[in-house]
Amino acid sequence: MLRLKHLFPRVPARTYRVLAIESSCDDSAVCLVNRPPNGPPILEDHLKATLDSAKDGGIIPIEALSHHLQNIAPVVDTLMRKNGQPKVDLVCATQGPGMYSSLAAGLQVAKGLSIAWKVPFVPVHHMLAHLLTPRFFTNAESPQFPFLSLLVSGGHTMLVLSKSLFNHEILVNTLDNSIGNSLDKCGRHLGITGTMIGKELDSFIGDWDTVDFSVLPQDISVPLPLEREKKRVLNFSFAHFASLMPRFEKTYNWSPLSEQPQELRRALGAKIEDTMFTHLVRKIMIALESRPDIPIPIPLLCAGGVAANSRLRTRLTSDLEPYGLHSSFVPLKWCTDNALMIAWAGIETFEANNSVGSRASLGAEPKAKWPLSEYSDHS
Ligand code: KG4
Ligand code: ZN
Repeated sequence: MLRLKHLFPRVPARTYRVLAIESSCDDSAVCLVNRPPNGPPILEDHLKATLDSAKDGGIIPIEALSHHLQNIAPVVDTLMRKNGQPKVDLVCATQGPGMYSSLAAGLQVAKGLSIAWKVPFVPVHHMLAHLLTPRFFTNAESPQFPFLSLLVSGGHTMLVLSKSLFNHEILVNTLDNSIGNSLDKCGRHLGITGTMIGKELDSFIGDWDTVDFSVLPQDISVPLPLEREKKRVLNFSFAHFASLMPRFEKTYNWSPLSEQPQELRRALGAKIEDTMFTHLVRKIMIALESRPDIPIPIPLLCAGGVAANSRLRTRLTSDLEPYGLHSSFVPLKWCTDNALMIAWAGIETFEANNSVGSRASLGAEPKAKWPLSEYSDHS
């Protein structure tokens, strides 16, 4: 069979430029990255247009699609004009997981650019991109494989063991909601508004040292999920946190909770957040106990939108460092979805394969569901 791969250029020995598009959810993000042959990558520019979903109380797929159709091409055009229409050598875009129609919008623009510019196209796994992001800033020096990643976003909550670029094992996954989704639901009950509720809740709680937990009823309890079910110990679960809120409203006559005094809402928000983080820490420790083959010490990278949370950062470092898990975090600005992470994952894939893509990549379809454990260089 004709190996079409060989019809495409090898990784250039010179500096090459990458244009990347991220559109898996509600962000139309585009960037330009310069990749020198021996030096660290340089972010030339990054632009992003985010759907305003505050009025809808969540992201509606058709609204997200309409947003991408209206924004991706103009954002690419602005980026290219702003940077003097530079020559681009590689195009990357998110293939999945995410919302099918949102992914399709970004993929189609990227494939069109790749054909028009006669340059290779690399489809990218969104969660792989989250966990590789810190390697952009260290030119792939840190973290080194193998490493653990705690991926905490609006769509996912998982602990992953990455042995190489193409070998990822999911050690713990969520049985129901993601932590971000549950935080957003709890935040809405507490009267927090905006497009990124978890972030707004983080600011609303503010300095943890000044939270007054004594304003909460003495008998209030926020139980840790999956502590008793022996068979299900190696899972996360976040659905029950959101279901506690209407229960509290009823039990304590707080209806609606959103109109209760600020200090009470602040203390309740903090108590719920902290219990969620204890749940993360406990399951990470159980996962490690059950896998003596995992070498300790090992880096633990925390990525995804919720990794921006200040309290989570403190908890992971203080609770897990004594067990040989060296926590590190994606820089705040790059925790939530962005195109830089897509450019970098595309670069790592491109260079690992030593040639880009085959023409098959132009036929890449959106993958709404795409477990990281199924990602390989033949994906
Ligand atoms: O990774 P991301 O931008 O999008 C997905 O791929 O899902 O994550 C978005 C999630 C939202 O649930 C948002 O509320 C949450 O990340 N988030 C935060 C913070 N910043 C964003 N949650 C807690 N604390 C924050 N500072
Ligand atoms: Zn994400």
